[in-house]
Amino acid sequence: MNPSRTFIHFLSSSPEETIAIGRFLAPRFLPGHILAIEGDLGTGKTTLIKGLAAHCSAALVNSPTFTYLQIYEGVPPLFHFDLYRLKEAQEFIQMGFTDYFQQQGICCIEWSERIESLLPQNAIHIRLEHIEENKRKISIYELE
Ligand SMILES: Nc1ncnc2c1ncn2[C@@H]1O[C@H](COP(=O)(O)OP(=O)(O)OP(=O)(O)O)[C@@H](O)[C@H]1O
Ligand SMILES: [Mg+2]
Repeated sequence: MNPSRTFIHFLSSSPEETIAIGRFLAPRFLPGHILAIEGDLGTGKTTLIKGLAAHCSAALVNSPTFTYLQIYEGVPPLFHFDLYRLKEAQEFIQMGFTDYFQQQGICCIEWSERIESLLPQNAIHIRLEHIEENKRKISIYELE
């Protein structure tokens, strides 16, 4: 992995705190931003995205590609990718998902490790780590 620079990190002690952190962060992100959300199973990636969506007053819209992509039609819209089941980065391209990188919404990509080679250099990385029972460390960084 490339060297990285951490902007900031948060410690969360509960799922509610992680949602609050998502709500706090949401206005800092702009349409066109790509959030690469990394971390092991159950570290709170989806919970954090729920906080982002809550800030944007976003309602979930059904989509035919819902296994990988759910769209929250808020202001701005959130494109929530969950790539846990993706086998290779090529699939992401074949499904036309890279088009969302150009759209006027915020791409929130869970399991972004699966498409590391496709992520733009200016993606904002958010790493969640399990510290203990209900504690999580949430680091926001960029690649240099
Ligand atoms: N501080 C915390 N922040 C977020 N979730 C927490 C925290 N403490 C405990 N949890 C629990 O951890 C789990 C996190 O689930 P969540 O679905 O958000 O994780 P995830 O990283 O998206 O997992 P997956 O990789 O399976 O998609 C939930 O059961 C939640 O209640
Ligand atoms: Mg998840």
